[in-house]
Amino acid sequence: MQTVHDLASLRAALRAWRKQDQRIALVPTMGNLHAGHHALVRRAQQCAPRVVVSVFVNPTQFGPGEDFTRYPRTLRQDQAGLAALDCDLLFAPAVEVMYPYGPEQALSIHVPEITDVLEGAHRPGHFDGVATVVAKLFAMVQPDFAVFGEKDWQQLQVVRRLQRDLGLALEIIGLATVREADGLALSSRNQYLDAAARARAPLLHATLRWMRAATLQGHAHAVVEHAAAQRLQRGGFEPDYCAIRVADTLHPPVHGTPDEQLIALVAARLGGTRLIDNLPFAAP
Ligand code: PAF
Repeated sequence: MQTVHDLASLRAALRAWRKQDQRIALVPTMGNLHAGHHALVRRAQQCAPRVVVSVFVNPTQFGPGEDFTRYPRTLRQDQAGLAALDCDLLFAPAVEVMYPYGPEQALSIHVPEITDVLEGAHRPGHFDGVATVVAKLFAMVQPDFAVFGEKDWQQLQVVRRLQRDLGLALEIIGLATVREADGLALSSRNQYLDAAARARAPLLHATLRWMRAATLQGHAHAVVEHAAAQRLQRGGFEPDYCAIRVADTLHPPVHGTPDEQLIALVAARLGGTRLIDNLPFAAP
């Protein structure tokens, strides 16, 4: 597997594949790759003969006081894992490659409306940073497919809108969340949890399952959301939100619209670590 850090080398590799008419799938990541990322790579390999993984800890999607500086950077390990998967190319640009005018002077892409709620409401500017860096990666790699995890459900919907609104000729693929045996969604941030917090963490997924069951039993959404937040508080979490939404728009559901696909979403702090998770009602 080749690792490239600059645009000239990236373009050279892409050009060679394009000449052979080979399609390309992109897996954008911030590195510190775990089994969830590896599943994205395997999904990408099903889509296209060539797979590019980007590793870039994107400064513009972190707010003040968030974990940008301490976000784990493990390029050597990431390289080894990707090579073992037979990934074709690792693109690991420096900040100056992604932001030649500096992150503060960079253009910024705002996807309206869907970014105002949930994560967007709690992390102002976060999705502008995500949309901007993803649009840059799409422009640089020009993939035929891009694969994202459903764990960041709202991010996935933002990226789908970005693709559609820009008319980009690529297909966005979402992959179901990979979980530990006890239900905890895999995330690079799980390693911030100490042993006590880790033992409590599965309550997040259990609460999502409870929210889905209670909703399907006919309980009012607001009642379920409130009870879910209380449940998390009792378990030592500080919830930011527990929400039942329409899966693609993230609007609050309107009762009596049976064909709307619903999803439960939660974000909560546990011992100083902020975790997010979700459960589409259609999922097993
Ligand atoms: O999901 C992530 O790891 C990041 O938000 C992404 C999509 C790579 C953009 O930096």
